[in-house]
Amino acid sequence: MAKNKTAYVCNECGQDFPRWQGQCSACHEWNSITEVRLGAATTGRSDRFSGYAGAAASEIKTLDQIDLNELPRIGSSFTEFDRVLGGGIVPGSAILIGGHPGAGKSTLLLQTLCQLAETMPALYVTGEESLQQVAMRAHRLGLPTAKLKMLSETSVETICEIALREQPKLVVVDSIQVMHISDVQSSPGSVAQVRESASFLTRFAKQHGIAVIMVGHVTKDGSLAGPKVLEHCIDCSVMFEGDSDSRYRTLRSHKNRFGAINELGVFAMTERGLKEVANPSAIFLSRGDEASSGSLVMVVWEGTRPLLVELQVLVDNSALSNPRRVAVGMDANRLAMLLAVMHRHGGLQMADQDVFVNVVGGVKVSETSADLTLLLAMVSSFRGDILARDLVAFGEVGLSGEIRPVPNGQERLVEAAKHGFRRAIVPRANVPKRPPEGMEIIGVSKLSEALAAL
Ligand code: TYD
Ligand code: MG
Repeated sequence: MAKNKTAYVCNECGQDFPRWQGQCSACHEWNSITEVRLGAATTGRSDRFSGYAGAAASEIKTLDQIDLNELPRIGSSFTEFDRVLGGGIVPGSAILIGGHPGAGKSTLLLQTLCQLAETMPALYVTGEESLQQVAMRAHRLGLPTAKLKMLSETSVETICEIALREQPKLVVVDSIQVMHISDVQSSPGSVAQVRESASFLTRFAKQHGIAVIMVGHVTKDGSLAGPKVLEHCIDCSVMFEGDSDSRYRTLRSHKNRFGAINELGVFAMTERGLKEVANPSAIFLSRGDEASSGSLVMVVWEGTRPLLVELQVLVDNSALSNPRRVAVGMDANRLAMLLAVMHRHGGLQMADQDVFVNVVGGVKVSETSADLTLLLAMVSSFRGDILARDLVAFGEVGLSGEIRPVPNGQERLVEAAKHGFRRAIVPRANVPKRPPEGMEIIGVSKLSEALAAL
């Protein structure tokens, strides 16, 4: 019998250490390190079920000897979900779906699995809700319920044993925070349990070619419990975002070994479950008829496609000695930078003004192409000028007031034209030789030109 190993794991970041220390040297948190007894190196899980024993004897191959045809992807029955995953679920991959409680993760996976189970064996493991609760939801949503296999279980070893017997193509584990593994002594939900459970399930997925989707709840600050911990062992990490009081949910990939990241899928939560939104630009653009100052549409690039999103800015006299700068859906540092550029190179002083920025529809924009839109919207609100409703703008603004080009300019313009926009202010280098029909393109290379174009 081999000796049990002991590790010291930080509960905040998941880093492990050979001995206890007061402060984690990775995340600098105090008193976060706890002792974790790992399973015995040779006994325990490896021979708990025989499937592991001789599985996948190691063998060296050169890259060209590896069979590429082994990976036909499993369609999830949602095209938006498939796109975020880079074209479907890869057999034997480990996928993590993160999100706030109530975001709709369980609903999305239940809908997916009920449809999938019609054509291939699938297993839904629920550790949070009772089987009856899940069944009631499936009935209410009118899903096909005859084929999906359900299991209420929280022990990872038991789940793997049953999965091995049932041989599903896809297993959903809802959620990883309630799972536990007998070799780890700490309580379910702790970083050590989550980490060991997730890596056990990932190894299981790889060795048996069974795709595993794990649900993970995010903590208050938006990170997954033991964030880094999980990210390195799984293949794809997608986040399901959106407030539970808003109708729209976005699915975004943060890590993907089989496709592009930052791909965005949009869903609407209805009384009949989740519906995918095929034309997301249309919903983020649903504006009233009244034109107002400070509102302008930007064209951001999300993964492999353009997305039109409305940006609203309110600039108002401040009663505070430290005026407020609030950015919802955008980086506040970027806002501060643009205010400085505008002061220095555009001669517009907003030091005594409150500035509020909001990206409509709860979308989060991190792309620099939103710079020019934000800047023009701020100027519009500051001056009280009403912007034409058929105007869009995009472009990156540099610190010396230059307007820099952004990738995929042509596709962005085509998307804007498709939604009825007739004028665009874009970086000069993004002006296409043949503009989309019926569209006037104004190319600018300096801040002063952009302000003049308004
Ligand atoms: P759920 O999938 O349980 O969230 P998670 O697993 O991410 O915690 O979704 C719960 C929310 O979705 C809940 O607030 C109610 C809402 N909802 C609907 O609006 N319509 C529906 O048909 C369903 C099933 C849920
Ligand atoms: Mg749930």
